[in-house]
Amino acid sequence: MPSPTTDAQAGPPAAGGDDPRCIPHKLTAPLPVGDECPYPDYTPEEHSVWRDLFARQTELLPDRAADEFLTGLRALDLDRVHIPALKTVSRRLHAATGWRIARTPGLLDAGDFFGYLARRIFPCTDYIRGRHELDYTPAPDCFHDIFGHTPMIMHPRFADFYQKIGQAALACRDAGIMEGLTRIYWFTVEFGLIRNPGGLRIYGNGIISSPAETLHSLTEKVTKHPVVPERIAAQPYDIWHFQDPLFVIGSFDALEADFVRWAQARRLL
Ligand SMILES: [Fe+2]
Repeated sequence: MPSPTTDAQAGPPAAGGDDPRCIPHKLTAPLPVGDECPYPDYTPEEHSVWRDLFARQTELLPDRAADEFLTGLRALDLDRVHIPALKTVSRRLHAATGWRIARTPGLLDAGDFFGYLARRIFPCTDYIRGRHELDYTPAPDCFHDIFGHTPMIMHPRFADFYQKIGQAALACRDAGIMEGLTRIYWFTVEFGLIRNPGGLRIYGNGIISSPAETLHSLTEKVTKHPVVPERIAAQPYDIWHFQDPLFVIGSFDALEADFVRWAQARRLL
């Protein structure tokens, strides 16, 4: 299954039934940011889940993940054996693109989540799924957030685009436009494809953090369209099934420019 591992932070919150991980937090106090993020007392089993997820996904990435994702992953130099400290990841992000990480207790209310993005802060969980959930979790965990999201935030143009999504969302007062913005987020940040020199590649974390969807998304079974924000904004999605269609960008420069045009036409930027 794809997706409740994919950001309910910015999308539909109620995918996991009664699981408390699926209830968005409305913040009453600021989250710890950067060096303020504590390092949990992980068990050896939790580290081993990280190690196994990391090994399994990195095996799938060559010739499937975007060059930009792989470059970011290499530059982050994440610990493959132990769950990384958020403050360490935050320092590396900050050195590359000026982004930092905030430790979130789980899903955030959409307004809180976009408010952090608008300030170049990525809300990140620090708990990890159980071994029985290797293929599926009902809400993002730190493997989804760190391994899946932070490599793209190392890319300067994606980093600017991601901030602009947050800024546009904060400015949005129209429910219909907000739905379109959520779909743009979904089909880019979570399920985006890019045309690299070597061929079609994945940069969306909803795909990259799902082994089954990684294998499925690049096949002929999935319809692919060029990214046109107006078209994506009108494209509903189903969080319970593989995504079809998917949308392909030519570059992150083009993605950012297209999004800015769409958002400015709606007075969001
Ligand atoms: Fe996500």
